[in-house]
Amino acid sequence: MAYETIIVEVEDHVALVTLNRPDALNALNDQLLKELSTALRECQKNDKVRCIVLTGSDKAFAAGADIKMMSEKSFVDVFSEDLFGPEPDMIQSVRKPIIAAVGGYALGGGCELAMMCDFIIAADTAKFGQPEINLGVMAGLGGSQRLTRFIGKSKAMDMNLTGRFMDAEEAERSGLVSRVVPAKKLKDEALAAATKIAEKSQIAVMAVKESVNRSYEVPLREGLLFERRVFHSLFATEDQKEGMSAFMEKREAQFRDK
Ligand code: HXC
Repeated sequence: MAYETIIVEVEDHVALVTLNRPDALNALNDQLLKELSTALRECQKNDKVRCIVLTGSDKAFAAGADIKMMSEKSFVDVFSEDLFGPEPDMIQSVRKPIIAAVGGYALGGGCELAMMCDFIIAADTAKFGQPEINLGVMAGLGGSQRLTRFIGKSKAMDMNLTGRFMDAEEAERSGLVSRVVPAKKLKDEALAAATKIAEKSQIAVMAVKESVNRSYEVPLREGLLFERRVFHSLFATEDQKEGMSAFMEKREAQFRDK
């Protein structure tokens, strides 16, 4: 399918999805979100794709929701159309891992989009922020919820109330990103991580994704029980036999996703 606001490239079992509205620093508008959710749905269906990397440009992962698109809307408009409701829900329902590779600005909806991914690899140029307060509004896609769980109340309040930006080093120290890499290596590092994931048993990969995400939804005792049951269930797979045999035979495992 042809897209106008994103670029999708599939190579070696990894889909690289690049946000591509350079004139607006990849601001999220209806078209971009629709195309992104369609592309991710296609990735979910495509057996060749085993992991997804979502990235932007050197200057911006995404500078937020499109302010020009929102500026004239009324409460009735945004409430009736459920602005930023359906597409982001779709993005979160993808079962394959999605890595956000963030260089430059990840602000407002851009920061929130990165947080919807399974983990974030940041370039040393990355700047995260929830500056909606400067527009007389507030975060609407997880900036007051996910961000608080990721970096704690004090920093989340600071970011949301002052609108200040957090650099990559602080983001790593705070637990928002998993690693920081030189900007020039961002794409390669993210693709290498995705390729590594693509080599694993995809049944186990999906189980990990579901279990870690579950930890944000349920109390610890329930989460631990869910984890143990999923762990048990993986013993029904051929890949468990293969993985453990390969270890004992001192060879590489050949997973077949069965
Ligand atoms: C629409 C945007 C935009 C945005 C940048 N642009 N951010 N257009 N929506 N969120 C456009 C600018 O208007 C400009 O277009 C072009 O991109 C380049 O931006 P500049 O401002 O000239 O670049 P620079 O001076 O380098 O400043 C970069 C910046 C700044 C610091 C990132 O653009 C900025 O503050 N952007 C807004 C960030 C923000 O407030 N995000 C939160 C949005 S609300 P022209 O045509 O003038 O050249 C939000 C709500 C989420 O995200 C809730 C639910 C999703």
